[in-house]
Amino acid sequence: MTATAPTFRARLYALLHYSDPTPGARKVRVAHLIVLGIGLFAVILLSVDEMDGQIRHALRIIIWSVTFIFLAEYLARLWVAPEASHYDQESATKARLRWAMSIPGLIGLLATLPAFLFFGGYVITGADAASVFCILWIMKVGLHAPAFSTLFRVVSNERAPIASVLILFAIVLMIAATAAHMFERVKQPEPFGSLPGAMWWAVVTLTTTGYGDVVPETLGGRLVGSLLMISGIAVLALMTGVLATGFAQEERRREYLRVWEQVTRVPLFASLGVVTLSEIVGKLRTRYYPGRITVVRRGDAGDSMFFITSGEVEVRLPNGGSVRLGEGAFFGEMALLERQPRTASVATTKPTTLLVLYASDFYEIASHIPKLAEAVEIEAKRRREENLERQAAGRR
Ligand code: CMP
Repeated sequence: MTATAPTFRARLYALLHYSDPTPGARKVRVAHLIVLGIGLFAVILLSVDEMDGQIRHALRIIIWSVTFIFLAEYLARLWVAPEASHYDQESATKARLRWAMSIPGLIGLLATLPAFLFFGGYVITGADAASVFCILWIMKVGLHAPAFSTLFRVVSNERAPIASVLILFAIVLMIAATAAHMFERVKQPEPFGSLPGAMWWAVVTLTTTGYGDVVPETLGGRLVGSLLMISGIAVLALMTGVLATGFAQEERRREYLRVWEQVTRVPLFASLGVVTLSEIVGKLRTRYYPGRITVVRRGDAGDSMFFITSGEVEVRLPNGGSVRLGEGAFFGEMALLERQPRTASVATTKPTTLLVLYASDFYEIASHIPKLAEAVEIEAKRRREENLERQAAGRR
């Protein structure tokens, strides 16, 4: 079977994809951000009343141009939607409909809304119209931030603890607002006379914002206020803890997947079973290095070893010679095995991806998987002998 060339629609889909790593897609993303930046800048300037007539005219032309670029982009994204792998079971129309209802689809549509105002004969005049554009367009910036998708996943994964904290927040809020309403309503009927009024004070206090616009005056009210402030710190700390743990777990999960992808390129791991491999994968970390960066320096203490999954490094040997190691090779093992300083400096020759294994994890794995430790030791021994031979030849 011969591989068919990707269609124009598939190529356009790859170009427009927000996380496609190819240079073409990256250029499209940069261009999109530049257009967005120009549009937002024009909108911000238009809201300044002192701007003179000609400049305002030019700014309006810029804003309409950006709007039409976004409209073209929206239509293009709608057209390529059936190429997305998660819609491959759907018909083209259904895939487009589902994309249109997704968050990127809705944000894309909102960003084009000003174009419909244009067709409706609307003229952008003052600050109000400009701010609407600003709000609609600023949401597009979010599509470029990977942190947003992480945030959605964290909120979705941690929805049970988040809901518990919010329920706790609501309970404390209601109790405090009702108590403050009872204590304060006679002395301060304006802010505390109604429950919604007292709830505003409770929210401001519970979130530790404290505008100071409403302050309890009775002894009972102040007591409630004190307890509320202390509870506020506790509730916020709980929420911070839930979100921080969620982010850390999500990052660990992503790192695990990244390492799984890379680990297959190292022949040393090829013969290991899935269970053993998954134990090692959990201990490896990916590191990206640009070209010509020293990864380990001769004489330094060795705290880790490295596996090359792409790129190349140069080992600068003590006798002045050098050896190059490519994809699948490892280095940094000698200092760990002999518990001595690094025997050579190692630097990248081009952009390189490494998997790092820290010393403590290396010793643990070596004790569990003797086959792996043996393979590393054999290679270290060969390198040691090679270096000794080279040194002897240098002396001759
Ligand atoms: P380490 O001594 O921890 O740090 C430098 C690393 O360079 C060393 O471990 C080996 O992994 C690697 N190295 C040293 N000598 C050679 C060699 N002759 N060939 C390939 N790699 C080497």
